[in-house]
Amino acid sequence: MKERIVSGMRPTGKLHIGHYLGVIQNWVELQKKYDSFFFAADWHALTTKYDKTETLKSDVIDVVTDWLAAGIDPEISTIYVQSLVPEIAELNIYLSMVTPQNWVERDPTLKDMAKILRTKEGANSQVSYGLLGYPVLMSSDILMFNADAVPVGIDQVAHIEITRDIARRFNNIYKTEFFHEAKPLLNNCSLICGLDGNKMGKSYGNDIKISDTEETTTKKIMTAVTDASRMRKDDPGHPDECRVAYKYWEIFADDEQINTVRCECEKGLRGCADCKRMLAAVVNEHFAQIREKRLYYETHIDEVKDIICQGSKRARTEAAKTIEKIREIIGMYS
Ligand code: TRP
Repeated sequence: MKERIVSGMRPTGKLHIGHYLGVIQNWVELQKKYDSFFFAADWHALTTKYDKTETLKSDVIDVVTDWLAAGIDPEISTIYVQSLVPEIAELNIYLSMVTPQNWVERDPTLKDMAKILRTKEGANSQVSYGLLGYPVLMSSDILMFNADAVPVGIDQVAHIEITRDIARRFNNIYKTEFFHEAKPLLNNCSLICGLDGNKMGKSYGNDIKISDTEETTTKKIMTAVTDASRMRKDDPGHPDECRVAYKYWEIFADDEQINTVRCECEKGLRGCADCKRMLAAVVNEHFAQIREKRLYYETHIDEVKDIICQGSKRARTEAAKTIEKIREIIGMYS
């Protein structure tokens, strides 16, 4: 039997290439080896955006479309929407009961989220009961399918640790070995920065979307910051001081190409504008197939919806079996 993985993303609309390189590419590889469950965490999106739900539906479709374009294969992976599996909410109730309050209060990722909320919405912003429950809901996602491993970024590891603590505590209280202790599966890819050299993010306006056209991508890359001390294009450049363009070369090109870029830059043979134009071509080449596939799905949205519907049904069937067993373990009336 294959080991199982569960992972999710909050639906925030069209994904950027940072999501692709950091998360989705990893999923695409892992799905070959693991029994894989990938879902749009729409309840988690509500923990901070409960009052901004106008785009929630289209955001779910957008993320799933990006996953499919990137190569998540609905024939081998189960793709679903969290809220279409209400058993997760039931499990969330049971897990809430066994989770000590201070476990969620000391969760570092949650503290960061509360801080961001305060800077966005001012000192009066409230951490809701739902947001406080973020790690418990995430544990419910993972334990609902009894995952062996959870592929996530480093920022989510604290949540996986709480999940293991909750699993252990549940097993202790109800004298069972039902829940597995899921381990985080970190990927070792290098983080891609935004076009301004800061962390890439939708809200910072410094991202390249998977769904961007080649033209948009080129335009965006032409705005990327480079070596600030270089005034004229035949001045010798400093690849190591180049804040974005050279870093992108390191991600998208092979060793030989990178070496050429470095030498030509250092000798002043390649101006930044030319360099970025060439870089844009390489990036566009890298995403050409994915974008073509995305265009297909954009014009066949019913197929995307059908995949979500089938996947959610499959996930729900699995969850329903598990929740029965959990009710029995706890001793619920049936
Ligand atoms: N919190 C995760 C994030 O923001 C998304 C998520 C929700 C998740 N539930 C999960 C990831 C369960 C892995 C497993 O990226």
